[in-house]
Amino acid sequence: MSGARKVEVLFPEELIAERVTTLAAEIAAAKPKDLLVVAILKGSFMFAADLLRAMHRAGLEPHVEFFHLSSYREGTVSSGTVKILRDIESAVKDRDVVLIDDILESGRTLAFAKDLLVARGARRVLVCTLLEKRGKREVPIAADFVGFVCPDDFVVGYGMDVAHSYRELPYIGHVVTEADRP
Ligand code: IMP
Ligand code: MG
Repeated sequence: MSGARKVEVLFPEELIAERVTTLAAEIAAAKPKDLLVVAILKGSFMFAADLLRAMHRAGLEPHVEFFHLSSYREGTVSSGTVKILRDIESAVKDRDVVLIDDILESGRTLAFAKDLLVARGARRVLVCTLLEKRGKREVPIAADFVGFVCPDDFVVGYGMDVAHSYRELPYIGHVVTEADRP
């Protein structure tokens, strides 16, 4: 029998807000031209919304698009292949693109999206991930901008889910079952 589930906070709201402001400044310092931000749904929606507002405050005027990609089914194990559930609508030829995702883990999702944008003629594709799990890469890809290095734990909140739950949390945490505690 499993006990009550509780989310333990790893990255609180205030810390995320501070880091998002810094990330926007780092992106602005890269002097992107004809900037298109492409956020990968669903996990990055909250991060993207905050980062876009911070980018505005940093003086950028990006256009915004969404890729709905899926590499996970329900649960926590990657299926190994990336599917496009919904494509972006804008042309990317000769534009600078900032690709936003929630977590860089095996690298398959971001490598797939980046390769596609490069193949479509983007001038520069910069990868911005809120969290990076180190030592988990299965394909070679590096993020240009990283919010936080994440412990090797399944995390939820701030847009991220486990089986569709917890996306609404304003902070990032991991799920613990009371019965699992020592
Ligand atoms: P990758 O393709 O293995 O790099 O996986 C990246 C995607 O897996 C992210 O966009 C997330 O949607 C999902 N993911 C990986 N780790 C976690 C986690 O700890 N919590 C929630 N989603 C995760
Ligand atoms: Mg995702």
